[in-house]
Amino acid sequence: MTEQKATNVHWHEHHITRQERERLNGHKGVVLWFTGLSGCGKSTIANAVDAMLHARGIHTCVLDGDNIRMGLNKNLKFSPEDRTENIRRIGEVSKLFCGAGTIVSTAFISPYKADRDGVRNLMPPGDFIEILVKASIDTCESRDPKGLYKKARAGEIKDFTGISAPYESPENPEIVLDSDTQGIAQLAEQVVSYLENKGYLSV
Ligand code: ADX
Repeated sequence: MTEQKATNVHWHEHHITRQERERLNGHKGVVLWFTGLSGCGKSTIANAVDAMLHARGIHTCVLDGDNIRMGLNKNLKFSPEDRTENIRRIGEVSKLFCGAGTIVSTAFISPYKADRDGVRNLMPPGDFIEILVKASIDTCESRDPKGLYKKARAGEIKDFTGISAPYESPENPEIVLDSDTQGIAQLAEQVVSYLENKGYLSV
């Protein structure tokens, strides 16, 4: 838990409630938290889900590991402490978007269970949907879309998740996507169906 450092700060309630924003949008806000190894397909699936929802007139956004690390989190590296801070900040940003009635898809390795649980606990039940994108390290390494596994094996990248840094798989994720055997469209459809069945796509 990150301590509150500033004193003499006061919480302000906003005039427009979340429910009013969701009524205007015609759907609920929610965080779709994709987690898994580098190269497992998180970003690609998150973008496919985003496009499917967008096509239905739903208010969405995507927060993506590499992009966020080139902006908001450019001062963080890949030590356990920096990864924890990375996920904490993204959790807070996701909560803000979700509270504004948006369907937020996040694509971060988020390798530590405690960090993911920390984000879950920031939000009311139902706002955080943990989605494990399951792909074996062999699959990810053979895809190696950014050539990073090759570099990690050569010792050019240290603390690389799955090679020289841990990945703690979720124990009870709301959704498991099998990226070893299924295609992107099918996996994205699985997520959208979940949202539909659980009533997130209406108010
Ligand atoms: S996290 O562990 O803090 O959640 P995040 O998702 O933001 O990671 O960033 C992961 C991306 O950074 C990977 O997809 C990869 O492109 C790149 N990367 C660079 N160095 C590393 C590393 N040591 N371990 C994992 N990913 C790395």
